[in-house]
Amino acid sequence: MSPLSELNQQIAQCFKCEIAKSRCKVVPGEGAEDADIMFIGEAPGWHEDQQGRPFVGPAGQFLDRLLASINLDRTRVFIANVIKCRPTANRDPLPTEIQNCRPWLDRQIEIIRPRMIVTLGRYSMARYFPGKSISKIHGTTRKQDNVIYFAMYHPAAALHQQSLKQAIETDMLKIPALLAEVGTVKETGPQPQQLNMFEV
Ligand code: URA
Repeated sequence: MSPLSELNQQIAQCFKCEIAKSRCKVVPGEGAEDADIMFIGEAPGWHEDQQGRPFVGPAGQFLDRLLASINLDRTRVFIANVIKCRPTANRDPLPTEIQNCRPWLDRQIEIIRPRMIVTLGRYSMARYFPGKSISKIHGTTRKQDNVIYFAMYHPAAALHQQSLKQAIETDMLKIPALLAEVGTVKETGPQPQQLNMFEV
């Protein structure tokens, strides 16, 4: 069994938080075990809880289109969340839930060893850019131990606000060049394209 499958089994047995008791399915994350890029969102929503897969609702469909704009798809990256169970009624994750779930995310990062970690929204941003405001730092990076941390708006927020939608599309297009700075880019397809041809 691969280290990630083994980890997923352990995550599925975790009931540290109350919300684990009401979940339909745990949502550990998915993608390539050797992914160069890891996207970290917030928490599963209704669709994700039903399917046990990250970003499969409307925000996820937008994320798929953003990935396509840089010639990637979800099989070539890894997509995870700060917490692995759906918060009741889609409320924000609680500090204790983030803390309880942190070892799972840490272990995912340890196994995948991505060259780039893209934070989607405030909760994952807080981990790598503490005290910063997303409106100020989205589209910017921090580099540590040869890993690039890149902050982006959450696709769900961008779905509802045109200005954020443009910002997230533009920020996504920066990823291939940033990744090239820290090593081999596995993607060799056509140049990144603006997303305007797709309507959300
Ligand atoms: N929003 C998230 O942050 N994660 C998901 O998996 C879905 C929606």
